[in-house]
Amino acid sequence: MSNGLLKGKKGIIFGALNEQSIAWKVAEKAHEQGAEFVLTNAPIAMRMGEINQLGEKTGSKIIPADATSVEDIEKLITEAMEILGGKLDFILHSIGMSVNVRKGRHYTDENYDWTMKGLDVSALSFHKVLQTAYKLDAINEWGSVLALTYIAAQRVFPDYNDMADNKSYLESIARSFGYHYGTKKHVRVNTISQSPTMTTAGSGVKGFNEFINFSEQMSPLGNATADECADYCIVMFSDLTKKVTMQNLFHDGGYSNTGVTQQVIEKFSD
Ligand SMILES: NC(=O)c1ccc[n+]([C@@H]2O[C@H](COP(=O)([O-])OP(=O)(O)OC[C@H]3O[C@@H](n4cnc5c(N)ncnc54)[C@H](O)[C@@H]3O)[C@@H](O)[C@H]2O)c1
Repeated sequence: MSNGLLKGKKGIIFGALNEQSIAWKVAEKAHEQGAEFVLTNAPIAMRMGEINQLGEKTGSKIIPADATSVEDIEKLITEAMEILGGKLDFILHSIGMSVNVRKGRHYTDENYDWTMKGLDVSALSFHKVLQTAYKLDAINEWGSVLALTYIAAQRVFPDYNDMADNKSYLESIARSFGYHYGTKKHVRVNTISQSPTMTTAGSGVKGFNEFINFSEQMSPLGNATADECADYCIVMFSDLTKKVTMQNLFHDGGYSNTGVTQQVIEKFSD
């Protein structure tokens, strides 16, 4: 169903790896709502070629870029503005990766080279995207920039490992850059804190199935799906949320404000 919420808007969507990716769903819905955009992902993530199907479906060009490379980001943003014929209105940063998580390295035994790599990919890349867009003056007034995060930035989820630290940093960048971008150019910057979701990045976390079930039972409205997350992103890119900035927005069925639910209590009854 389209309400034309993003009609005439132009953007860049980072992070669509396959059909499960949250960014994939955002691209489908942004297209439905009338937006035009460029898709991007790390060159290595394009080997499987799945993103080409999304490009065809949404009529979008694809530009490879490693989000840790300022040079790649400069090229991406400049080319995107040429392709789309003007400045941008929205950017989605849907990127996350921890080498320590991937290689099963415990939080108390981090390999710091891997920690720095994960921090660069998952958090600093957001600053690099914002700073490059800011310097190129690439985003229209009232434009909207979003990154995706997880509640492990506020509370401990042991197996989320160093991604928790990466997400804290990411959320802090949204606040700090949001201040400067808002003051100078009226551009808003926010993070959406999403429920656990079955994707390639999500399922890399140890015990993810148990974790997703626990979260489901701890959320009055149930876990938010990738599709629902995409809907929220669309609203945040639209003109209906013009004064929302520097926020970490929980999109989690109420999980973040729930101490315990009846369902979980019953599991402990004698
Ligand atoms: N799945 C969940 O449970 C969940 C929950 C909350 C937040 N998130 C966040 O949502 C975002 C999207 O993840 P997803 O769950 O859709 O998984 P996904 O695996 O589909 O997406 C992660 C993306 O990051 C990209 N990426 C990795 N390194 C990159 C680099 N150097 N340059 C550019 N792109 C790079 C990958 O290619 C991939 O497309 C991430 O920030 C993730 O942490 C996910």
